[in-house]
Order: sequence, then structure tokens, then C-alpha cells
Amino acid sequence: MSASRTQVGIIGSGPSGLLLSQLLQLAGIDSVVLERRSRDYVLGRVRAGVLEQGTVAILRRAGVAERLDREGLVHHGVEIAAGEERRRVDFSAHAASVTVYGQTELTKDLMHARDALGGTLLFEVDEVALEGVESERPALRYRRAGVEHRLECEFIAGCDGFHGASRKAIPPNVLKIHERVYPFGWLGVLAEVPPVSPELVYASHERGFALCSMRSLVRSRCYVQCALDDDVAAWSDDRFWDELRARLPEAAAARLQTGRSLEKSIAPLRSFVAEPLRYGRLFLAGDAAHIVPPTGAKGLNLAVRDVQQLADALIAHYSEGQDDLLDAYSATALRRIWRAERFSAWLTSVLHKFPGRTSFDRGIQLAELDELASSAAAQAAFVESYTGTPL
Ligand code: FAD
Ligand code: PHB
Repeated sequence: MSASRTQVGIIGSGPSGLLLSQLLQLAGIDSVVLERRSRDYVLGRVRAGVLEQGTVAILRRAGVAERLDREGLVHHGVEIAAGEERRRVDFSAHAASVTVYGQTELTKDLMHARDALGGTLLFEVDEVALEGVESERPALRYRRAGVEHRLECEFIAGCDGFHGASRKAIPPNVLKIHERVYPFGWLGVLAEVPPVSPELVYASHERGFALCSMRSLVRSRCYVQCALDDDVAAWSDDRFWDELRARLPEAAAARLQTGRSLEKSIAPLRSFVAEPLRYGRLFLAGDAAHIVPPTGAKGLNLAVRDVQQLADALIAHYSEGQDDLLDAYSATALRRIWRAERFSAWLTSVLHKFPGRTSFDRGIQLAELDELASSAAAQAAFVESYTGTPL
């Protein structure tokens, strides 16, 4: 058994874990990141694409936004279609915007930054187990290349996503789970074709929801709502493009260019909040603590805000001996998280086709979308939630 020490042991090298280790190192705090998967696997995952302005500001502070500032696509509006009706929600009236930049690229930038500063990232680590999180000296035990290790820590950050080990270290009589599982998923395709429109198109259609997003001016990321038991293998590229085209307003459908998929996967939709986010010296951040359905594009943004808050709290502890921010972390983060949960659940309910939906349910959905199209107050509320910019 090999033994080592660090100040903050971080489980998971997704955006949360990588960004936390970066922010801590910039403040002179030592950390070690333990990741179950290989570096290539982590770099290959295709996930979120929309960053709030506040997220971009945090990434700049972390010194990882140089390429994002160069290549990210700044959007000042979004299109929301209902059948043939197309409505644009304008962000610029509220001095708000979002930046379209793939999580895959952000992960790459974060890893380069960690490597450049000599950060310790350990990949292909198995059987991570948390020990003594209620004590002053918690530890992480793990196995790597067949060797057992014990990493003594002062704090542990659970950044290991929804299926990770850290949340499970909180005793069941302490941990409260709030959850909604949706009866459908999203089938996503990445392809080297120009986007149908310069802005994202969210479409609510009788056949189900669809989304046209992008990664660049020559690369599209598109989704269609699918059944939970759908098999990716049953979706040829042609079937995917035909279904997407059928759900878009005619003008957008006519512009749709199709091509071979570079990636195709199905993600189930879930709303999930764990509480509390702190147990002893263990702190949860990102998908380990909460999941939102991707409709509102909030998942990655929430993770980045959690991490900034946790980093600030740890920095106050180490530099000033102040623990107020650590003590307030769970309650403060949960208020912000619940607001994003509300928005994501609402947008999901308005845009998707739920099994057993009645004509009354559809009427309510269309009225919600009408209100969004015609009411300045409804638009302002949408812009505030979607872009994360306080108006
Ligand atoms: P993750 O990115 O999940 O990273 C957690 C890391 O911990 C992973 O690398 C994992 O391998 C590692 N890990 C897990 N268990 C262990 C363990 N026991 N030991 C060591 N390491 C471990 N958001 C959007 O806004 N839009 C989208 O379109 C979108 N699509 C998504 C599709 C999928 C399939 C998923 C899963 C998420 C999607 N999200 C989307 C959400 C967004 O990607 C997440 O909110 C974001 O990745 C959260 O980052 P994280 O670092 O907290 O968690
Ligand atoms: C994406 O580009 O992958 C994306 C964009 C907006 C969403 C979800 C996913 O709401």
C-alpha cells in the first residue's frame, strides 16, 4: 500500500473536478484528481454546448478561456418553434448572451491547463472509497495498476457525476433525494454539416421534441426526443435526419443539410437534487449533486457555479481561516440549483411530448409558448433563466 497526502482530494475529472483543481492551484492549494476512466475516454465524451456569460467569466478567471474566447460562438437569441410557428426570443434587448462551445473542447482546455501547471490527474483509478469524512483527516483509498493507495486529505470534493461514489458516502439517514424521471430520452447526433440556422432551434412538435444546436459553423449537434428503450443501433443516420426534418418548421427543414454521424447516443432525462451537499469534510459539486434535463442547457453551467463557490469557500478557509463560506455552501448552492431545476423542468414540460398527452395538455403547452412569444414579461423571465444573466 502506498500512502500520500494532499489538501483537497477530488474525485472525477469531468469539468467540475478539473476546474476545481485549477482554481485551487491558482490560489496555492494542493489537490489530486482521481478519475476512473482513461484520459482519452474523458476527452471523447460529447455532452453540453451552451455556456452562460457568468460561466465564461469564471473560466476566464481560471485562465482556461483563451480558445473559448476565440472560437466560441456568441448567440444573442434563440428560436422556439411550435409546429409551423417560429418565434425568436431576443437576448440582446436584455444585454444578455450565451456562448456555444462544446463541453468536449472545454474539457480539452481544462486538461491542457492542468498539465501546463503540473497538476496531478490520475486516470484509470479503480475502487475509490471514501474514509473518515466526518473526521479532520478524511482519506481516499483506491487501486491503480493493481496497487493499493491511500491518499490522506484535508477535504474531499465529490465531482464524480451522477453515478459516482461520493454521494453514496453520505449516510442514507442524512441524505435526502428529490427526483423526477422522465418517460423519454434524447437521441443526439454530431455531424460535420452546417447548422440549419445561425441560432439554436428548439422545436415542440406533434411527433415529439427536436433541437438543432451546433459546435461550430460547420458542425451540428442535433437531438430528437426518443423512447427510453430505444436502441441507438435502430437509428440509422437517414432515419435520424428524416425524423428531425419532420419535426422542424418547413423553412428550417428545407435548409437542413445531412451527413454521416460522427457520434450518436441516447441520454435519459432526469431531474435530481441531493441534499445536503456537505457531509463532514466531503463536499458535492456538479452532477454528483444534481441533474437537470438538458432542455435548459443548465447542467454544465450549474457545475461551474458550484465549483466556483466551493473554490471560494476553500480559499477563504486556507487563506483567512474563515469557514463561513464552507458552512453556507450547501444551503447557498441549493437555492441556485433549485432555480435551475425549476426552469429546466418547466422548459422540458412545455416542449416535449409526454405519453398519454391529451388535447388539453397540448393546448396548455401551446399557450405557454404563445405567452413566451407575445409577452415581454415572459420573455424577460425566460432570458434571465436561459442566459443566467440577472436582469
Ligand atoms: P461529469 O462530467 O459526469 O464528470 C464526472 C467524472 O467523474 C467522470 O469523468 C467520471 O468518469 C468520473 N467518475 C465517476 N465515478 C467515479 C469514481 N467512482 N471514481 C473516479 N471517478 C469517477 N448538459 C447540458 O447542458 N446539455 C447537454 O446536452 C447535456 N448532455 C448530456 C449528456 C449526457 C449523456 C450526460 C451524462 C450529461 C449531459 N449534460 C448536458 C450534463 C453535463 O454534461 C453535465 O452537467 C456535466 O458534465 C457535469 O460535469 P461534472 O464534472 O459534474 O460531471
Ligand atoms: C448542445 O449543443 O448539445 C445543447 C444545446 C442546448 C441544449 C442542450 C444541448 O439545451
